[in-house]
Amino acid sequence: MAHELVWRIERVGVVESTNEVVFKRALEGEREGLVLVADAQTRGKGRLGREWFSPHGKSLYMSILFRPSEDKRQFITFTCALAVSDALKRFGLEAGLKWPNDVIVRMRKICGILCESGHGFVVAGLGVNLNVDERELPEEIRGIATSFLIETGQQVDRDEFLKEVLNSLKLWYIKPHPEVLAETRIRSATLGQIVRAVLPSGDIVEGLAEKIDESGALIIRTLSGVKRVLAGEIVHLR
Ligand code: BTN
Repeated sequence: MAHELVWRIERVGVVESTNEVVFKRALEGEREGLVLVADAQTRGKGRLGREWFSPHGKSLYMSILFRPSEDKRQFITFTCALAVSDALKRFGLEAGLKWPNDVIVRMRKICGILCESGHGFVVAGLGVNLNVDERELPEEIRGIATSFLIETGQQVDRDEFLKEVLNSLKLWYIKPHPEVLAETRIRSATLGQIVRAVLPSGDIVEGLAEKIDESGALIIRTLSGVKRVLAGEIVHLR
């Protein structure tokens, strides 16, 4: 069985990006299990060079250092997404996983995950929108993003939520990766949808999201055959 993680939680007020700090610490030899939680980020990093909306004291901004075995490495994003969806469920909110790295509610993003890898380590950055209301969301993400407060009308305690995420993450992390994959497929909000994938090359693949394969890639059935998508931005069309 894989070794159990022991969390070392560190809290900071304001940082540019928790991922940046944890990545540096990883390069300096920090052990696995470091969890850095910030009250706010001034340059929260999203995927594709975007900024992650990180207002003070409202949501969860955290980065976790893993030193995974090779077989687990590529499934860290799914592992984290499962833990976040478990935590949301513990607080009464049903969420789905949007391939490859989002957790969504009613087709809107409530959590984004940014995994950054170095030699022998992965830094998983999780942003979960908790206590922001609709009016506080920047215009460019209104209608696309949501939060726990928007969905439930309730505030959630950030520390309680963090505790749930970490408890669940610890359990998922020791499971063999086929189990992580199987549950990812079950909770996937992408499978069965007609999707548009914008690939890192800029190419577009449109079709039915048919499968998540053994490597975690998304298999899309298009009019010209089956395409295997390893990374990209997915839009659920219907
Ligand atoms: C995405 O674009 O969907 C990924 C967003 C990841 C945001 C989190 S917030 C905590 C951590 N620190 C960062 O700078 N980014 C991640």
